[in-house]
Amino acid sequence: QPPRSFYEEIGGAETFRRLTEVFYAEVAKDEVLRPLYPEEDLGPAERRLRMFLEQYWGGPRTYSEERGHPRLRMRHHPYRIGPIERDAWLRCMHTAIAAIDDETLDPPHRQALVDYMEMAAQSMMNSPI
Ligand code: HEM
Repeated sequence: QPPRSFYEEIGGAETFRRLTEVFYAEVAKDEVLRPLYPEEDLGPAERRLRMFLEQYWGGPRTYSEERGHPRLRMRHHPYRIGPIERDAWLRCMHTAIAAIDDETLDPPHRQALVDYMEMAAQSMMNSPI
């Protein structure tokens, strides 16, 4: 039997659905982040983040089937992302990760998710201010 992916270990589709649902509910309330999103409806952006994260952690590869290579830094070029935006993004993501219960997400998996998000948000910065 193949080893279980991280995606499966933390509860698969339902966990990623919940994670991005809470994340975008926070974005919708965030006065730094909300104005950056070009569309009125955050649903499509939520779906893109969900597909990306599922793929990154070993789940379905729908993101690349629909969007091609992620090239996330390039895709974030239109938005100025400095420390304020990075911190706002991470605040929303920490809230989302905290919303997943301990039975689904044990401490080592939780830490792996947090570490990745912090690294990824840092690498998405494209402005010193
Ligand atoms: C797209 C903001 C970090 C993953 C977007 C969009 C904005 C945005 C405004 C366009 C919304 C849309 O898709 O319609 C930010 C800000 C960040 C950040 C302010 C602060 C650091 C990240 C990180 C990840 C990520 C760390 C991944 C772990 C994505 C993905 C898309 C996206 C997958 C859709 C790309 C596509 O296929 O077009 N982001 N983002 N973002 N972001 Fe971020």
